[in-house]
Amino acid sequence: MRDFPALDLGRCRLVPFTEGHLSDRYVGWLNDPAVVRYSEQRHRHHDLASCTAYLQAMLPSRDLFLAIEAVDPALGHIGNISVSFDDPNRSADVSIMVGETAARGTGLGSAAWRGILDWLLTDGGLRRVTAGTMAKNSAMIALMENGGMTIECMRPRAFICEGEEVAMVLAARFADDDRPHD
Ligand SMILES: CC(C)(COP(=O)(O)OP(=O)(O)OC[C@H]1O[C@@H](n2cnc3c(N)ncnc32)[C@H](O)[C@@H]1OP(=O)(O)O)[C@@H](O)C(=O)NCCC(=O)NCCS
Repeated sequence: MRDFPALDLGRCRLVPFTEGHLSDRYVGWLNDPAVVRYSEQRHRHHDLASCTAYLQAMLPSRDLFLAIEAVDPALGHIGNISVSFDDPNRSADVSIMVGETAARGTGLGSAAWRGILDWLLTDGGLRRVTAGTMAKNSAMIALMENGGMTIECMRPRAFICEGEEVAMVLAARFADDDRPHD
C-alpha cells in the first residue's frame, strides 16, 4: 500500500488497515445481509482466512485499504474505506462500509467519506475522485452528496438485487469543481 498518514477527523480517524483490525466482529459485518445488502460482497461468504488473504493481497499493491476507527472506545473499529488509484489520470475510485450497527446513521460515515475525499484532492494530489453504488442505496447516495460529489450518470440495469434489475449511480468530485468544464 502507498503511504497514508493517520487522518484525524474529530469523531473518527482513518488509519491503514492492519492485521490488528482482523477480528470476528469485522468478518461478521461482511456476512451480515443488512450490511452487504447493496454491496457486491453479498455474493460471497467471508471468514478470517479470506479476510487475511485480502489484506495480504492489498499490502504489495499501490491502492489503499483503510480502517475507520471511532474515537469513542465503545465503538472502536467501525468500518473500512478502499481507494483504487488510476495514477496516470490522477484519479481514484473510493468505496466505504460502516459495518458496526451502533455506528451507522450517526454521521460517522459522512465524516470519514468527506475526510478521505478532501485528503485525496489536496495532499493526495488527485484531480478527480469517483464512486458508484446501486440506485436503491439511498444512504450511499446521501453520503456521496455529503462528500461534495455530483451524480454524473446512471448505468441502467447494472445489478440484480433481490430479484430486480437496478441501475448503478456514478458520482464524482474534482479538485477544481468551481472551474467550468464540459
Ligand atoms: C453507506 C454507509 C457507509 C453510510 O454510513 P453511515 O455511517 O450510516 O452514514 P451517516 O450516518 O453519515 O449517514 C449518511 C446519510 O445516509 C442516511 N442514511 C443512513 N442510514 C440510512 C438508511 N438505512 N436508509 C436511508 N438513508 C440512510 C443518513 O440519513 C444520512 O443522510 P443525510 O446526511 O442526508 O441525513 C453505510 O450505510 C454502509 O456502510 N452501508 C453498507 C455498505 C454499503 O452499502 N456501502 C456502499 C457500497 S457501494
